[in-house]
Amino acid sequence: MKIGYSEISVPETGTLIVGILAEGKLTPTAKEIDGQMSGGLARAVSASVRFSGKKNSLMALNAPTGLALNRVLLVGLGKAGEIDTLQMQALGGRVVGALNKFGETDAALVLDALEGCQLSNEQMVAEAALGARLGAYRFDKYRTTQKEEEKPTLESLVCMSGGSAAAEAAAEVRQRVGDGVYLTRDLVSEPSNVKYPAAIVEDIKALTAIGIEVDVLHKERMRELGMGALLGVGLGSRRDSYIAVMRWNGSPNTDEPPVAFVGKGVTFDTGGISIKPSGGMEEMKYDMAGAGAVIGLMKALAGRKARANVIGVVGLVENMPDGNAQRPGDVVTTMSGQTIEVINTDAEGRLVLSDALWYTQKTFKPKFMVDLATLTGAIVVSLGTYQAGLFSNNDELAERLLAAGKASSEELWRMPLGKRYDKDINSAIADMKNVGKGREAGSITAAALLERFVGDTPWAHLDIAGMAWMKQGDDPTVPKGASGYGVRLLDRLIAEYYES
Ligand code: BES
Ligand code: MN
Ligand code: ZN
Repeated sequence: MKIGYSEISVPETGTLIVGILAEGKLTPTAKEIDGQMSGGLARAVSASVRFSGKKNSLMALNAPTGLALNRVLLVGLGKAGEIDTLQMQALGGRVVGALNKFGETDAALVLDALEGCQLSNEQMVAEAALGARLGAYRFDKYRTTQKEEEKPTLESLVCMSGGSAAAEAAAEVRQRVGDGVYLTRDLVSEPSNVKYPAAIVEDIKALTAIGIEVDVLHKERMRELGMGALLGVGLGSRRDSYIAVMRWNGSPNTDEPPVAFVGKGVTFDTGGISIKPSGGMEEMKYDMAGAGAVIGLMKALAGRKARANVIGVVGLVENMPDGNAQRPGDVVTTMSGQTIEVINTDAEGRLVLSDALWYTQKTFKPKFMVDLATLTGAIVVSLGTYQAGLFSNNDELAERLLAAGKASSEELWRMPLGKRYDKDINSAIADMKNVGKGREAGSITAAALLERFVGDTPWAHLDIAGMAWMKQGDDPTVPKGASGYGVRLLDRLIAEYYES
């Protein structure tokens, strides 16, 4: 789908999409269009008891005679004073969904500057266009026999506004975030025979084209660094393990210490010798969604030339059972020198992150670190698929993340840490073990292990196990499948608090 921008006019073909305010009030442009449609719009709105311009509502009308349009699609804007960025994103996504249901190929969305609205006209366009792009995402590359009626039809969406040049410029910046989300969704959707660690390393190297510096640690280097926990997870795999580092230096102050994002990139999680049951195991292809989010985030930040210095680190490993795999009871030594007793080889994400976090903190001395990981099934039990778990040793960072979550609709719920949970991972034979007390507080004891590898660095851990993959697509900007969770959230965090 192509997104275009133009001044306002009644299009010749396709679907015309017009916003209607609460109580069926026409916007100034809608009134003008109504004139050209000899009152057809106003009549339709007033005659319709079911369409009053309520926020998020949609209503399709046959195009009035005399116009070559296929139809007019009314979209409820609600009260002008209450319109916000998320509403406009949802509107964009919803409109795309409806147009594909109609089998439409061409559409024009008319957006007015509205009195009393907190968004400028160009912001409205930019957010709607981002929402449309996010809602239009598909991953169909492996479907060679898809029926015509299942394919999306929409080819072109033109966003019409007064001052479309300014709107286009604003929208183009927002589309770079869309690019990041698309990359994350692609990486997470791909099966594990295609996106194994080395393949993802190649995708990361391709980001040098947009100004990201890339550094790859091979297993020899990781061995020298003493990353026994990360390497232990990869022992059962025929695929080599990697750490990849991405660096975006966008701050005008080149000495500015960076902020860092760290992702769990287990490209497939069988559980290892503590093997998972086979039912649903295919889902574990998305166990690299934390890494996927970090990679997409870096693309978004570089794409929109964010004025911040940002490091992205991903630990890429495959967790397989094998004659060479690590065993329950094995003790591994991490880069930090701390030892971990591996009680359960399926609690591998924390092993990967223990070395990745320690390395990041020691090497880059970041202002803060945020890690993203599909770390525990227990977080899905706690929070379902609506919010990710947030764990942090720093209240300011936690508050900022919570606010960015609300503003981006990628929400977070803060969970506790503390001495008593930390004690639960003490081991009789090593410094710690990689599981807590049975199933109790499973997400918290996992976070407690990570906390032992962050030193004094302000840190937050986002357990995104419930958010990485949507079995239903009930958010209009997040279709079924890989959500791209984390990109919008962390782009917002940077934009709001860390750009000079
Ligand atoms: N990758 C899984 C967690 C997961 C579960 C992600 C569901 C996405 C959806 C993780 O590596 C894992 O296996 N965790 C175990 C930990 C347990 C062995 C302590 C779990 O949650 O059962
Ligand atoms: Mn696991
Ligand atoms: Zn895992």
